[in-house]
Amino acid sequence: MNHLLLYCRPGFEKECAAEIRDVAEAEGIYGYCKLEDNSGYVLYVTHESGAALRLVDEADFSKLIFARQWVACLPVVDEISADDRISPLLEKVAELPPCQSVMVEPADTTDGREMQRFCNSFSSAFSQKLRRSKLLADANPYRLHIFALTGTCFYLGVAPVENSAPWPMGIMRLKFPNAAPSRSTLKLEEAWHWFVPPHEWQHYISGGLKAADLGAAPGGWTWQLVKQNMFVTAVDNGPMAESLMESGQVTHKPEDAFTFQPAKNLDWMVCDIVDKPARVTDLMIRWLVNGWCRETVFNLKLPMKQRYTEVRSCLAMIETALEEAGFKYRMAAKHLYHDREEITCHIRIL
Ligand SMILES: C[S@@+](CC[C@H](N)C(=O)[O-])C[C@H]1O[C@@H](n2cnc3c(N)ncnc32)[C@H](O)[C@@H]1O
Repeated sequence: MNHLLLYCRPGFEKECAAEIRDVAEAEGIYGYCKLEDNSGYVLYVTHESGAALRLVDEADFSKLIFARQWVACLPVVDEISADDRISPLLEKVAELPPCQSVMVEPADTTDGREMQRFCNSFSSAFSQKLRRSKLLADANPYRLHIFALTGTCFYLGVAPVENSAPWPMGIMRLKFPNAAPSRSTLKLEEAWHWFVPPHEWQHYISGGLKAADLGAAPGGWTWQLVKQNMFVTAVDNGPMAESLMESGQVTHKPEDAFTFQPAKNLDWMVCDIVDKPARVTDLMIRWLVNGWCRETVFNLKLPMKQRYTEVRSCLAMIETALEEAGFKYRMAAKHLYHDREEITCHIRIL
């Protein structure tokens, strides 16, 4: 296998391509990208055969910012007859490593969404067939992905279950909580699910912790913190939702977040201010290096041009500052489903 398929938000194919080239090169793997603007996916073709599977096995998926999912796959399979898709695809499955489950997915585009019903029904028919043919077993390390470009044209491949996104299309679907004051609330919830594994929630996202929310109004992110029974200092000149203030867990500081300093060191700081990425980066560095918080989730707004370069430069600035200050830390960034022209970052001081 020398094809690696990456799913991304339509419009971010160039960033996704630039990133996979960097990640592959760091693993000593070289190749080129095929992409089409707004298609919602990128194909990375390695010069060495078999290198796509090595890449998904050896590189760390959680380091990718712009890819929602990655799949080491066979060359495109097309002109499949609509009368019998199962037989030719079954033959192709024999060329892939052993899998435990199957996902049939379209691209996240308008055309792709029209394929969703077909994908769902084909997924259950094909999965049944694979199980009956003993081609799926729970102990197998890979998930089979069938990426449907049309009803007759597919990419077939695998992703390691432990080193890929667990959700169809790499998209975490969250239900908007009606009590939350803004839709932005889903960004913090999605970020926590991406960055904090379930077994860590009890310790790191738990009751009694103290947090600051910079750029908090009207309170979607504060609502998530309050829901976890944290005590929140909400910094924003704008008004906070009354319902949140009634919780008794929120102190509103109508101040400038760029000059605000907490009276005591906190557990968490979250920041959803739309400003120049370099300015937000400096603010995050100040909080972390001074020890004002030990964990943070924040957004970096993407510039119009050089989006990938700018993101890399901001993250490198944070890494340099934390290393110079002698901190050990965990850092990750993701272009979340609920993000548009921004990415979301997570840092924990260890
Ligand atoms: C995208 S909104 C935040 C939405 C919020 N996270 C939520 O879930 O409801 C950005 C907020 O940042 C605030 N903001 C912008 N610049 C700020 C600054 N310098 N200090 C404090 N707040 C600021 C704005 O007033 C605005 O309410």
